[in-house]
Amino acid sequence: AIEQTFSIVKPDAVGKNVIGEIYSRFEKAGLKIVAAKMVHLSADKAGEFYAEHRERPFFNDLVGFMTSGPIMVQVLEGENAVALNRDLMGATNPKEAAAGTIRADFAEEVSANAVHGSDSPESARREIGIFFSADEIFSRS
Ligand code: CMP
Repeated sequence: AIEQTFSIVKPDAVGKNVIGEIYSRFEKAGLKIVAAKMVHLSADKAGEFYAEHRERPFFNDLVGFMTSGPIMVQVLEGENAVALNRDLMGATNPKEAAAGTIRADFAEEVSANAVHGSDSPESARREIGIFFSADEIFSRS
């Protein structure tokens, strides 16, 4: 089915100047960028986005990292978009990510792993709603 998923190019990848290279991975795989913007998260918004991780030992580091610089947030659309984007990203820990994935090619540490992608269609709907209103999403399915 055609799905939408939510994606972040994190501060480390923006800092490495590889936004375009990462967007190319999405497009070459058949995903369409149907919404996008650059934002600098507040700690409150980062905490809201990562609410499910609030009790984890790395939560404060995660919020600190995600607020350390601007990020790109985007909605990707296409066949099986949630799983396809997770395949493109590779494992959460770049050290374990398969060759040729975004995290293998652009990241070194689990705490600074270049990209985020929704883990389910339900998460995608929630995450998209945190960053985009309906009139900012230009579906091309
Ligand atoms: P993400 O997909 O954005 O969702 C939660 C994030 O927590 C994850 O990517 C990692 O970047 C981060 N994370 C997971 N494990 C650790 C860890 N042990 N230390 C720091 N950050 C982590």
